[in-house]
Parts: sequence; C-alpha cells; structure tokens
Amino acid sequence: MFDLSLIGRVRIGVLGDAALDVHWYADMKKSELSRETPHYPLPVVREEFSPGAAGNLAANVAALLPGRLDFCGVIGGDWRGELLKKEFSRRSIGCGGLVAEPGRFTNAYCKPMRMGISDVIYEDPRIDFSSDMPVSHVAEAAVLDWLDKAEASLDALCVCDQFEKGCVTAAVRARLAEMRIPVFADSRYRIGLFRVKNGCLKPNEHECAAALLSLGAEPSEDMEENGRRLRELTGSDILLTLGENGSLWISEGETVRVPAVKTAGEVDICGAGDTYLAAFACSAAAGAAPEEAMRIASAASSVTVRKLGTTGTASREEIAAVMGNAHE
Ligand SMILES: Nc1ncnc2c1ncn2[C@@H]1O[C@H](COP(=O)(O)OP(=O)(O)OP(=O)(O)O)[C@@H](O)[C@H]1O
Ligand SMILES: [Mg+2]
Repeated sequence: MFDLSLIGRVRIGVLGDAALDVHWYADMKKSELSRETPHYPLPVVREEFSPGAAGNLAANVAALLPGRLDFCGVIGGDWRGELLKKEFSRRSIGCGGLVAEPGRFTNAYCKPMRMGISDVIYEDPRIDFSSDMPVSHVAEAAVLDWLDKAEASLDALCVCDQFEKGCVTAAVRARLAEMRIPVFADSRYRIGLFRVKNGCLKPNEHECAAALLSLGAEPSEDMEENGRRLRELTGSDILLTLGENGSLWISEGETVRVPAVKTAGEVDICGAGDTYLAAFACSAAAGAAPEEAMRIASAASSVTVRKLGTTGTASREEIAAVMGNAHE
C-alpha cells in the first residue's frame, strides 16, 4: 500500500474561488413576536463558519497534512473575507495569496437553521452573498504573480474554478497551461477550456458532456468514450469521476477504471469531488501512480460521503482504515 505519510513532504497550492459557509442555529423556543413587525425573529444561539467552494478543496487538502499548503484567490475587503481568513488560518492554510479587492463581495452562503421542541432542524432559504463583479486587472495580475512564485516553490497545484466571474480568468488559464508543476483542475462551467501539461482535468460526467458540447463535439452514452474525446480535444489527461460508479483515468494510450468504495447506509455526496481531487493530487504529488492515487482518492471520498449533513474532510488515518479493510 502507498505510504500516505509521504504526503507530509508535499508542498501544494490551491487556486480558486473561495466562499464562506455559514450556519446560524436559531432556537425558536426563545422567539417572541416582534412589537414592530408581525414576525417571529430567529434568535441565533450558535454560529458556525467553514471554508466553501475552493475553500472546501483547500480544507480537504489541509486534512491530509501536506508539508505546506498555500491558497490563492480573490475575495472582498469585508467581514466575510476576514472570517474566511480566520478559518483558513485555523486549518494551517497559507493566506498569503488571498487578494482582497475593494468593492468586491466575498461570496458567502448563510443557512439559517431553525431548532424547535423536537429534534427536527429546519433549514430556511439560504442567504447568499455573490460577487457579480469581474476580477479587476490588478487582482488578476496578483494571481498571475502568485502563480510565478508557486511554480518556483510548490510541487503541485489544485485549481477550483467555481464562480461565473471568478479568479480563474482566461489569462490565468493560459498561464496554467504553461505551468511546469502538475496542475489538477476542476471547473464547474468551463473544464473544456483548461489545458495542463502535467496533472489532469477532473470533470464529473455532466461537466465532461458539457465540455464536449462547448467544444463542438457530441457526447455519447459511453463515459469512457466521452473522457477519451475530451482528452483528444484538450490534449490533457482526464480524471473523470462518476459518482457511485467510481472514476476513470484517461491518458494517452492508457485507461484505468477504479470502482467507488461501497458504503452501506445513508450517504451525503456533497463535496465528494473536492475530497477526491484533494486526495488524488496530494498522493500523485507524493509519488503515487495514477491508479494508486485513484484508489486513495476513492477511499477518501467514501469517508466524506459517510459524514452526513456536512461537506467534511478525510484524514490519512481514516483513508488508511478504509484501504486496510478493502484489502482484507
Ligand atoms: N455514493 C457514493 N459512495 C461511495 N463513493 C462515492 C459515492 N459518490 C461519490 N463517491 C466517490 O467520490 C468520487 C467523486 O464523486 P463525484 O463524481 O460525484 O464528484 P463531483 O460530481 O465532482 O462531486 P461534487 O458534487 O462534490 O462536485 C467518485 O469517483 C467516488 O469515488
Ligand atoms: Mg465536482
């Protein structure tokens, strides 16, 4: 079995669109009808913050205890940005590459959670803060500068391009295509526009089909064929994740299929892709071959899908426990 402690030597970066996830727990037993408006207010008794989007990818990398972890992204100069920095620091995620742009919103997804007399927790409509401002040239230049430094001082880079108007701009993508260190890229809307020399692109089945369409190719029912087509069109190796159907590695002349780790009982698939990418990138950067890295990543994501009601992360110990059992 691959020695997961080798991840402890890896110097890795995460570049992308970070957000703050907020949970506000309101104890409705304490609520009293407002005198000014015909409403029962939500008396918040507990609040929880965690890094979301690219921040969740970084939290998943952090849970694997790499030798060094640096984050780069563009946020706003607001309270949400400050809280995000605090959450990053708590997880030993380097914030030196966080660019705070005046006037920009730090994205945040705030969930009011109502608690009452029974155990039922009721989630109210989310309150979203979303930036719809394109990243300025100044902020983009700071990201490009960071990439120059990353190339010189890191072993690998993960990318999480999640927002419509995020920090992974066309110029940043063009720079990523030239990076000499491996780049492991995930993108919600644009994976077909990424190119990497080393590393890979990580679409899920829907993102792969959408990428083919955007590149003028017709997706088929056969996922392997879609992945192979995306590889031809992008010239980049493809790591195609297929949810409970596992994952496929497609490089020139090689296809590897690894099944998902079977999990009994209820699952929460939220964030499975981030855990998978974090574990794959860290193990590949530590020297694991693609198939080995896929097995580690499948084990890691099976850990987080079993953590209900939270995006969650997987530690090396948790991964080793799953892999040990799988080998019995
Ligand atoms: N129900 C499941 N049981 C076990 N493993 C799972 C399950 N769902 C997903 N996985 C594992 O997680 C990996 C990534 O899942 P998936 O393909 O859903 O990623 P994704 O669509 O990028 O996820 P996300 O919604 O986080 O972006 C899969 O390849 C598989 O190994
Ligand atoms: Mg995904």
